[in-house]
Amino acid sequence: MTQHFLCKQQDLTEDKARGFTIEKKSENLELLLVKKDGEIYAYKNHCPHLGITLNWQEDEFLSLEKTHIECSTHGATFNLDDGHCIAGPCTGQDLLPLNIELRDDEIWLQI
Ligand code: FES
Repeated sequence: MTQHFLCKQQDLTEDKARGFTIEKKSENLELLLVKKDGEIYAYKNHCPHLGITLNWQEDEFLSLEKTHIECSTHGATFNLDDGHCIAGPCTGQDLLPLNIELRDDEIWLQI
């Protein structure tokens, strides 16, 4: 298992997501962090519909109402707290959750 520092907890705000790229030898890992009701969730930045990244602009992952993660390509809509797709072309599928560890005020990815 490898660990990667992502950011400090105070760098995340409610109703806002942040994207990260972890450089790996074979293929970079794109992921996002999102905070809801004080909980932090991490998902691979990979839409189950076409296997492409969810966002087209940096750190823009959420629906207009900030209640869901929304794919910018065809509008698939995912729950913030479990990554389940509730609307769009991949309804019923899920974003891939990633393991994070909170160490004091730091967020670390474990892969
Ligand atoms: S690529 Fe995400 S909804 Fe089509």
